[in-house]
Amino acid sequence: MMADSCAVCHGTDGRSTGGIDSLADMSARELIEEMNEMIADPHEGRLMGIVAKGFSFQEIQSLGQYFQKLGEGKKTKDRKEKSDD
Ligand code: HEC
Repeated sequence: MMADSCAVCHGTDGRSTGGIDSLADMSARELIEEMNEMIADPHEGRLMGIVAKGFSFQEIQSLGQYFQKLGEGKKTKDRKEKSDD
């Protein structure tokens, strides 16, 4: 599964124990938006910009859905959308 490669940095099942954001806390839409932002602007995600570039549009859609599923059942805090700059 593609998501296994995310676990190295973002934690098993999208639940980070370190300083990096837990992917399971994100909605599919949010994850997709963040990924696209980091692809569009390499400075935005730094390390992640490189990771994000390795995935196609389709793959990013399924990653978004996968992590949203992982977060279901657990009340997600209402994360604030980041502004575009
Ligand atoms: C090599 C380590 C590494 C890997 C592998 C990795 N990430 Fe990341 N990711 C990071 C770091 C570090 C950040 C924080 C970037 C920043 O804000 O500077 C980040 C940030 C993100 C963000 C934005 C979070 C936010 O709230 O702004 C998303 C979404 C994300 N990663 C998704 C993924 C997905 C999906 C995968 C697997 C396909 C993945 N990452 C694999 C290191 C990694």
